[in-house]
Amino acid sequence: MQKLIVANWKMYGSKTMAEAFLKTFLYSKTDTYNYIFCPPFTLLASFEKFLNSQKYILGAQNCSSFENGAFTGDISAEMLKEFNCSYCLIGHSERRQIYHEDDEKILTTKIQQLLKHQITPIFCVGESLEDKKQGTAFQKIKHQLNVLKEINNEIIIAYEPIWAIGTNKVPNIQEINEMHQFIKNLYLKPLKVLYGGSVNPQNAADILTSDQVDGILVGRASLEVASLLALKER
Ligand code: PGA
Repeated sequence: MQKLIVANWKMYGSKTMAEAFLKTFLYSKTDTYNYIFCPPFTLLASFEKFLNSQKYILGAQNCSSFENGAFTGDISAEMLKEFNCSYCLIGHSERRQIYHEDDEKILTTKIQQLLKHQITPIFCVGESLEDKKQGTAFQKIKHQLNVLKEINNEIIIAYEPIWAIGTNKVPNIQEINEMHQFIKNLYLKPLKVLYGGSVNPQNAADILTSDQVDGILVGRASLEVASLLALKER
Protein backbone atom coordinates (compact mmCIF):
# COMPACT_ATOMS: atom_id res chain seq x y z
CA MET A 1 0.00 0.00 0.00
CA GLN A 2 1.36 3.39 -0.97
CA LYS A 3 1.99 5.69 1.96
CA LEU A 4 0.60 9.19 2.19
CA ILE A 5 2.65 12.33 2.56
CA VAL A 6 0.44 15.20 3.68
CA ALA A 7 1.93 18.69 3.35
CA ASN A 8 0.41 21.12 5.83
CA TRP A 9 1.49 24.58 4.73
CA LYS A 10 -0.25 26.25 7.70
CA MET A 11 -0.34 30.07 7.22
CA TYR A 12 2.64 30.23 4.87
CA GLY A 13 3.00 30.83 1.16
CA SER A 14 2.05 33.23 -1.60
CA LYS A 15 0.84 32.76 -5.17
CA THR A 16 4.37 33.32 -6.50
CA MET A 17 5.88 30.86 -4.05
CA ALA A 18 3.20 28.22 -4.76
CA GLU A 19 3.72 28.42 -8.52
CA ALA A 20 7.49 28.18 -8.27
CA PHE A 21 7.16 25.32 -5.76
CA LEU A 22 4.73 23.34 -7.90
CA LYS A 23 6.70 23.75 -11.11
CA THR A 24 9.84 22.40 -9.43
CA PHE A 25 7.94 19.70 -7.57
CA LEU A 26 6.12 18.35 -10.61
CA TYR A 27 9.34 18.44 -12.62
CA SER A 28 11.22 16.36 -10.03
CA LYS A 29 8.22 14.30 -8.97
CA THR A 30 8.39 10.77 -7.70
CA ASP A 31 5.64 8.17 -7.94
CA THR A 32 6.48 6.38 -4.72
CA TYR A 33 4.05 8.30 -2.52
CA ASN A 34 0.64 9.84 -2.67
CA TYR A 35 1.15 13.50 -1.86
CA ILE A 36 -1.71 15.52 -0.41
CA PHE A 37 -1.20 19.29 -0.34
CA CYS A 38 -3.05 21.33 2.26
CA PRO A 39 -2.22 24.96 1.44
CA PRO A 40 -3.99 27.96 2.98
CA PHE A 41 -7.45 28.64 1.48
CA THR A 42 -6.06 31.54 -0.58
CA LEU A 43 -3.77 29.18 -2.50
CA LEU A 44 -6.28 26.43 -3.29
CA ALA A 45 -6.90 27.89 -6.76
CA SER A 46 -3.16 28.03 -7.55
CA PHE A 47 -2.72 24.42 -6.44
CA GLU A 48 -5.84 23.23 -8.25
CA LYS A 49 -4.50 24.60 -11.53
CA PHE A 50 -1.34 22.49 -11.25
CA LEU A 51 -2.49 19.32 -9.55
CA ASN A 52 -4.44 17.57 -12.23
CA SER A 53 -2.93 14.14 -11.76
CA GLN A 54 -4.38 11.64 -9.29
CA LYS A 55 -1.08 11.26 -7.48
CA TYR A 56 -1.07 14.82 -6.23
CA ILE A 57 -4.14 15.52 -4.27
CA LEU A 58 -5.57 18.68 -2.83
CA GLY A 59 -6.67 19.14 0.76
CA ALA A 60 -7.60 21.95 3.15
CA GLN A 61 -6.59 22.76 6.72
CA ASN A 62 -10.02 23.26 8.27
CA CYS A 63 -13.68 23.75 7.40
CA SER A 64 -16.87 25.15 8.86
CA SER A 65 -19.31 23.00 10.77
CA PHE A 66 -22.13 24.77 8.91
CA GLU A 67 -23.51 24.11 5.45
CA ASN A 68 -23.68 27.83 4.52
CA GLY A 69 -25.05 31.07 5.94
CA ALA A 70 -24.01 34.16 7.87
CA PHE A 71 -20.76 32.81 9.33
CA THR A 72 -18.16 35.49 8.69
CA GLY A 73 -14.70 34.10 8.06
CA ASP A 74 -15.82 30.49 7.57
CA ILE A 75 -15.26 28.24 4.55
CA SER A 76 -17.72 25.39 4.02
CA ALA A 77 -17.06 21.82 2.90
CA GLU A 78 -19.09 22.53 -0.24
CA MET A 79 -16.75 25.45 -1.06
CA LEU A 80 -13.73 23.17 -0.61
CA LYS A 81 -15.28 20.63 -2.94
CA GLU A 82 -15.59 23.32 -5.60
CA PHE A 83 -11.79 23.52 -5.57
CA ASN A 84 -11.53 19.73 -5.84
CA CYS A 85 -10.34 19.20 -2.30
CA SER A 86 -10.46 15.49 -1.49
CA TYR A 87 -9.10 15.73 2.07
CA CYS A 88 -9.34 18.17 4.97
CA LEU A 89 -7.54 18.34 8.31
CA ILE A 90 -9.84 18.52 11.32
CA GLY A 91 -8.91 19.10 14.94
CA HIS A 92 -5.31 20.17 14.36
CA SER A 93 -3.78 21.00 17.75
CA GLU A 94 -3.13 24.61 16.65
CA ARG A 95 -6.89 25.01 16.06
CA ARG A 96 -7.68 23.26 19.35
CA GLN A 97 -5.19 25.21 21.45
CA ILE A 98 -5.13 28.68 19.93
CA TYR A 99 -8.79 28.93 18.87
CA HIS A 100 -10.27 26.51 21.44
CA GLU A 101 -11.82 24.47 18.63
CA ASP A 102 -12.00 21.20 20.50
CA ASP A 103 -15.68 20.90 21.16
CA GLU A 104 -16.66 17.29 20.39
CA LYS A 105 -20.01 18.19 18.85
CA ILE A 106 -18.51 20.83 16.55
CA LEU A 107 -15.72 18.50 15.46
CA THR A 108 -18.29 15.77 14.72
CA THR A 109 -20.40 18.20 12.67
CA LYS A 110 -17.35 19.31 10.69
CA ILE A 111 -16.58 15.69 9.87
CA GLN A 112 -20.19 15.07 8.83
CA GLN A 113 -20.10 18.13 6.57
CA LEU A 114 -16.94 16.88 4.88
CA LEU A 115 -18.30 13.37 4.39
CA LYS A 116 -21.51 14.77 2.93
CA HIS A 117 -19.37 16.43 0.24
CA GLN A 118 -17.15 13.37 -0.35
CA ILE A 119 -14.12 14.89 1.35
CA THR A 120 -12.08 12.53 3.54
CA PRO A 121 -11.36 14.01 6.99
CA ILE A 122 -7.87 13.70 8.42
CA PHE A 123 -8.66 13.83 12.11
CA CYS A 124 -5.74 15.03 14.25
CA VAL A 125 -5.14 13.84 17.80
CA GLY A 126 -2.20 14.27 20.14
CA GLU A 127 -1.19 14.48 23.78
CA SER A 128 0.47 17.44 25.49
CA LEU A 129 3.82 17.25 27.24
CA GLU A 130 1.92 17.31 30.52
CA ASP A 131 -0.13 14.22 29.48
CA LYS A 132 3.08 12.47 28.47
CA LYS A 133 4.79 13.24 31.79
CA GLN A 134 1.76 12.10 33.78
CA GLY A 135 1.48 8.87 31.77
CA THR A 136 -2.01 9.75 30.51
CA ALA A 137 -1.22 10.01 26.78
CA PHE A 138 -3.19 6.89 25.79
CA GLN A 139 -6.22 8.03 27.79
CA LYS A 140 -6.06 11.44 26.16
CA ILE A 141 -5.95 10.02 22.65
CA LYS A 142 -8.81 7.62 23.37
CA HIS A 143 -10.85 10.52 24.70
CA GLN A 144 -10.15 12.67 21.62
CA LEU A 145 -11.19 9.77 19.38
CA ASN A 146 -14.67 9.80 20.97
CA VAL A 147 -15.59 12.23 18.21
CA LEU A 148 -15.45 9.35 15.74
CA LYS A 149 -17.74 6.98 17.60
CA GLU A 150 -20.79 7.70 15.40
CA ILE A 151 -18.81 7.89 12.16
CA ASN A 152 -18.67 4.79 9.99
CA ASN A 153 -17.17 6.22 6.82
CA GLU A 154 -13.54 6.12 5.79
CA ILE A 155 -11.49 8.51 7.83
CA ILE A 156 -7.76 9.01 8.37
CA ILE A 157 -6.26 9.67 11.78
CA ALA A 158 -3.13 11.76 12.26
CA TYR A 159 -1.28 11.18 15.52
CA GLU A 160 0.58 14.39 16.31
CA PRO A 161 1.98 14.74 19.83
CA ILE A 162 1.61 18.45 20.64
CA TRP A 163 5.08 18.55 22.17
CA ALA A 164 6.57 17.32 18.89
CA ILE A 165 4.98 19.92 16.59
CA GLY A 166 7.50 22.53 15.46
CA THR A 167 9.97 21.60 18.21
CA ASN A 168 12.41 19.14 16.59
CA LYS A 169 11.50 16.68 19.35
CA VAL A 170 10.15 13.41 18.04
CA PRO A 171 8.98 10.31 19.91
CA ASN A 172 11.15 7.27 19.22
CA ILE A 173 9.90 4.74 16.72
CA GLN A 174 8.76 2.30 19.46
CA GLU A 175 6.62 5.04 20.99
CA ILE A 176 5.12 5.91 17.62
CA ASN A 177 4.41 2.25 16.84
CA GLU A 178 2.82 1.69 20.23
CA MET A 179 0.45 4.63 19.83
CA HIS A 180 -0.46 3.73 16.25
CA GLN A 181 -1.16 0.14 17.28
CA PHE A 182 -3.27 1.39 20.19
CA ILE A 183 -5.33 3.62 17.86
CA LYS A 184 -5.78 0.87 15.25
CA ASN A 185 -6.88 -1.61 17.94
CA LEU A 186 -9.75 0.69 18.93
CA TYR A 187 -11.42 0.02 15.58
CA LEU A 188 -12.78 -3.10 13.95
CA LYS A 189 -12.14 -1.89 10.42
CA PRO A 190 -8.56 -1.23 9.27
CA LEU A 191 -7.77 2.47 9.15
CA LYS A 192 -4.86 4.65 8.17
CA VAL A 193 -2.88 6.34 10.91
CA LEU A 194 -0.36 9.03 9.98
CA TYR A 195 2.39 10.40 12.19
CA GLY A 196 3.01 14.16 12.42
CA GLY A 197 5.31 16.40 14.47
CA SER A 198 8.80 17.56 13.43
CA VAL A 199 9.15 15.06 10.58
CA ASN A 200 12.23 16.04 8.58
CA PRO A 201 14.61 14.48 6.04
CA GLN A 202 16.77 13.07 8.92
CA ASN A 203 14.05 11.19 10.79
CA ALA A 204 11.52 10.43 8.00
CA ALA A 205 13.11 7.16 6.86
CA ASP A 206 12.72 5.49 10.27
CA ILE A 207 9.15 6.69 10.63
CA LEU A 208 7.99 5.89 7.11
CA THR A 209 9.58 2.46 7.12
CA SER A 210 7.48 1.32 10.07
CA ASP A 211 4.56 -1.03 9.23
CA GLN A 212 2.39 0.78 11.75
CA VAL A 213 2.76 4.11 9.98
CA ASP A 214 0.57 4.71 6.93
CA GLY A 215 2.05 8.09 6.13
CA ILE A 216 3.21 11.39 7.56
CA LEU A 217 1.74 14.83 8.16
CA VAL A 218 4.44 17.42 7.61
CA GLY A 219 4.58 21.14 8.41
CA ARG A 220 7.89 23.00 8.03
CA ALA A 221 9.67 20.37 5.94
CA SER A 222 6.89 20.52 3.32
CA LEU A 223 7.55 24.13 2.38
CA GLU A 224 10.62 23.40 0.30
CA VAL A 225 10.62 20.98 -2.60
CA ALA A 226 14.04 19.53 -1.75
CA SER A 227 13.11 18.69 1.84
CA LEU A 228 9.66 17.39 0.87
CA LEU A 229 11.18 15.03 -1.68
CA ALA A 230 13.84 13.93 0.80
CA LEU A 231 11.13 12.45 3.04
CA LYS A 232 11.23 8.79 2.12
CA GLU A 233 11.55 5.24 3.36
CA ARG A 234 14.88 3.51 3.49
P1 PGA B 1 5.83 20.36 11.89
O1 PGA B 1 4.22 20.50 11.88
O2 PGA B 1 6.16 19.30 10.87
O3 PGA B 1 6.31 21.72 11.49
O4 PGA B 1 6.21 19.97 13.26
C1 PGA B 1 3.40 19.38 11.74
C2 PGA B 1 1.95 19.76 11.88
O5 PGA B 1 1.63 20.66 12.68
O6 PGA B 1 1.08 19.20 11.20
